Amino acid sequence: MNKRSVRDLDLMNKRVLVRVDFNVPVKDGEVTDDTRIRRALPTIRHLLSEGARPVLVSHLGRPKGEPDQKYVMDPVAARLQELLGEPVEKLDAAVGPEVVEAIDDWDGRGVVLLENSRFYPGETSNDPGFADQLAALADLYVDDAFGAAHRAHATTVGVAERMPAAAGLLMEEEIDYLDKVLEDPERPFVAILGGAKVSDKLGVIESLLGTADSLLIGGAMGFTFFEALGYEIGDSLVEDDYLEEAKRLMEESGERLVLPVDVVVAEAMEEGAESETVASDGIPSGKMGLDIGPETVDLFEGHISGASTIFWNGPMGVFEIDDFAKGTEGVARAVAESEATSVVGGGDSVAAVNKLGLEGRMSHISTGGGASLEYVEGKELPGIAVLPEE
Ligand code: 3PG
Repeated sequence: MNKRSVRDLDLMNKRVLVRVDFNVPVKDGEVTDDTRIRRALPTIRHLLSEGARPVLVSHLGRPKGEPDQKYVMDPVAARLQELLGEPVEKLDAAVGPEVVEAIDDWDGRGVVLLENSRFYPGETSNDPGFADQLAALADLYVDDAFGAAHRAHATTVGVAERMPAAAGLLMEEEIDYLDKVLEDPERPFVAILGGAKVSDKLGVIESLLGTADSLLIGGAMGFTFFEALGYEIGDSLVEDDYLEEAKRLMEESGERLVLPVDVVVAEAMEEGAESETVASDGIPSGKMGLDIGPETVDLFEGHISGASTIFWNGPMGVFEIDDFAKGTEGVARAVAESEATSVVGGGDSVAAVNKLGLEGRMSHISTGGGASLEYVEGKELPGIAVLPEE
């Protein structure tokens, strides 16, 4: 990474505004997946050990620019305190005199967590007044929110323009791993893409076809390719507007683009629906494809086991339903067993890896959903672009 790092900063006695991505799932007042909180701990611990005063700020959910009890940061604060083992002083505002006072009164232990930045309309509009107020809270700014780096908001871009800024340790790790995959992958480089729509991932497919030795396609997006090939796809999801694009991609990439050879089909996308496995070119009418079949899992395993670098984004089927989760699980296990440098991104594939307890077997699990896809697409992420170079 060629950006200034938190390790380059003189932190002793400094108030440091830290943008974290604590946009985590919360149910009944409890955080149900604390991955993003855990992944921010190294930066927070580094700041504390260097004598800094961390002031953490994040968004949570998509409130409409005003306070909304559903999205308060209290559950996050409680979990952070348990994980950090240090006091977390959660404030009920993100800016204002009481925030300034609480930060000034810091007793040298633990961290301050500001209220949800999206309770203010100036966050998403990157309002200069709001960014000024945030920047006035601290001496330095550290951005550890890779997951929000594709948003040009006040807490990701506005503040970085107003104060000495640097990347946090998680941000650094994310950039280093993704760059390794994109710029200088050890070969063979195998990319695996799943998910519902070709349209969502067109840029990513194009980008990966530029570098990968093979691109394995799973998930419902495969049916658009099948339709373009003239296969019978029954009632499977298809994007008719993208058939020409699908044809072009197949022509340009030849054998590097690997499609499923068999598919698990059912009449309905529901638990307990009667399912069968059919060849990819013969999905009966009245049925829809909901997972890749066992022969495809074997085919994909063959590619994955021979890889030196793997990038995986998106599930192979409707993995939330056990009957249609086998393809995603097979791919997750194959990636976990491989010796390759493996980078997994995107909420659903990460959830599948976590569900199987395989997270420790991947080289890097990205905390970014949309952000990691945009990065792979080659887009400049505003939250990264704004950080100064070393
Ligand atoms: C994410 O969960 O991908 C990030 O936290 C960004 O959230 P957003 O899509 O609501 O901006």
